[in-house]
Amino acid sequence: MCGIVGYLGSKEVVPLLLDGLRRLEYRGYDSAGITVLRNGSLETVRAEGKLDQLVEKLAGHAIRGSYGLGHTRWATHGAPSEQNAHPMVDSRQRVAVIHNGIIENFLTLKERLQAEGWSFTSETDTEVAANLISSYLDGDLKEAVARAAGELEGMYALAVVSTVGEREIVVTRHGPPLVIGVGEDEQFLASDPAALLAHTKDVVFLENNDVGRLTPEGIEIWDAGGARVERPVTRLNWDPIQAEKGGYKHFMLKEIHEQPLAVQETFAGRVDFERGQITLEELNLSEAAGRAIEKIDILACGTSWHAGLVGKFLIQGLARVPVEVDYGSEFRYRDPIVGPNDVAVGISQSGETADTLSALEAAADRGARLLSICNAPGSQIVRMTDGVIYTHAGPEIGVASTKAFTSQLVALYLLALYLRQIRGPALEPERLRALAHLPAAVDEVLGLEQELEQLARRYSRASDFLFLGRGINYPIALEGALKLKEISYIHAEGYPAGEMKHGPIALIDEELPIVAIATGDRVYEKVRSNMQEAKARGGIVIALTDRDPQEFDGIAAEVIQVPRVCEELQPIVNVVPLQLLAYYVGVRRGADVDQPRNLAKSVTVE
Ligand code: F6R
Repeated sequence: MCGIVGYLGSKEVVPLLLDGLRRLEYRGYDSAGITVLRNGSLETVRAEGKLDQLVEKLAGHAIRGSYGLGHTRWATHGAPSEQNAHPMVDSRQRVAVIHNGIIENFLTLKERLQAEGWSFTSETDTEVAANLISSYLDGDLKEAVARAAGELEGMYALAVVSTVGEREIVVTRHGPPLVIGVGEDEQFLASDPAALLAHTKDVVFLENNDVGRLTPEGIEIWDAGGARVERPVTRLNWDPIQAEKGGYKHFMLKEIHEQPLAVQETFAGRVDFERGQITLEELNLSEAAGRAIEKIDILACGTSWHAGLVGKFLIQGLARVPVEVDYGSEFRYRDPIVGPNDVAVGISQSGETADTLSALEAAADRGARLLSICNAPGSQIVRMTDGVIYTHAGPEIGVASTKAFTSQLVALYLLALYLRQIRGPALEPERLRALAHLPAAVDEVLGLEQELEQLARRYSRASDFLFLGRGINYPIALEGALKLKEISYIHAEGYPAGEMKHGPIALIDEELPIVAIATGDRVYEKVRSNMQEAKARGGIVIALTDRDPQEFDGIAAEVIQVPRVCEELQPIVNVVPLQLLAYYVGVRRGADVDQPRNLAKSVTVE
């Protein structure tokens, strides 16, 4: 969703703001803008469309200065247009505001402000915040922001500069993240640490309802009650180079190729192969607490929800704990039954997905212990849960999740094995050894890239795709379909193979490619029969298998042969060709694979 950047120091601010916004492009946006403070006045330039349009407009303005704000907007209130782009300046030209989130009571506030004589030029909720803050501004920007925030309902991260008072940026948040980068005589601000890595690794995450003030000398923070507080400085161990494309055409392709390392980093240091033990220190789950668990609720959205579905197979199968998996956006609305011995596990790459966070809150209200699986150090989900298993995938910039997904599956396997270790039956060493072989198997499957590029060429003009899987690979069919949809805009459905005959079989004709996952032994014969049913109706069957391709003679038009690993880890190997297929179909169709239309990387509104 919207990207926020800010800088205050002695350097030329415009290039810094544009660089920060470029690093946040992956979050998804439809307009952009900057405000710079110079000689006591605000200079604001905004443009609809991509950053290049903003850069073009800036070429006509010689804006210089050493502090200001930048924003990429993902439209919520009001269409994507220059007029609705941020920063928003109040009608008395005293403050400029950038905002991520939704202010729910903006209409009531707008009417009140209009009655007081404030005028509006946009349809946005953000302009309401700008006028409201200005209406309270009497020399002290921090006080004005704190007072205005007290009246805002909804979710927001706000950054504000003003012509009144000192050289300062004032920030506050309720919901969406804000992180301050601490420099020497300079401060940085962003909605995501990825924008700060090139400048500093020392960051401070604002807590909900904090108000922060950035000056060249340092940062000051006040909590919701107005008391001065110190928030810890977190040192990020992310390598800034990791957030660059490194010679690949797209982040997505680079991240697909980073998977052998990402899965390895996720189990490294947590598995003692010699003693046959798993240690998950940051999970903060004692053996007694682990043994007492009666049920696990997995809460997540999108690709992370697919990981949760695989997690259900792993945890129930390996540790015999009942598991339910819910969409973050649905959990609250079904009045879930959650007991004090239940655990809710939130899975989120970004750690900031509003629906997942709200679902966790609902579970906590009902007495559950909260755990998380997350890729973003210090993010909101990590701060609100009692323990975490970090996926060490490194920053994921491509909007379509790839390496975070496979790392989530590793984290879930570790959780399942850990529960088996403490609850019994005993943890067999071969289950750990299977992990040791996984990075090589993922590397091997990446060797299919050219084959998949050619396959993509043959089917990139299809208007629909069907993905079939059974058992632990059913969620991989869902994930294959989701990747294709979001990257190539081709309509795709993922289905449990056995369900095909209950409806989707009606869709099959000579034009429909059907990717069927037929690996392992447990449901192999059943899936093969389902493939035959599809073939008999004229469908184009593409088999993804760990068997001899000849077994599909007369059934499949194409065979993708992947290496065999243990059943529980096979989804990690199987999803990689589906990611590559989606990628190359998307590229072939000329889609913007790193930033698909309408999508955002971090979905911070409900
Ligand atoms: C799909 C994708 C999304 C995310 C979803 C949850 O490729 O990336 O479906 O998985 O928005 O995001 P996180 O994991 O950050 O909570």
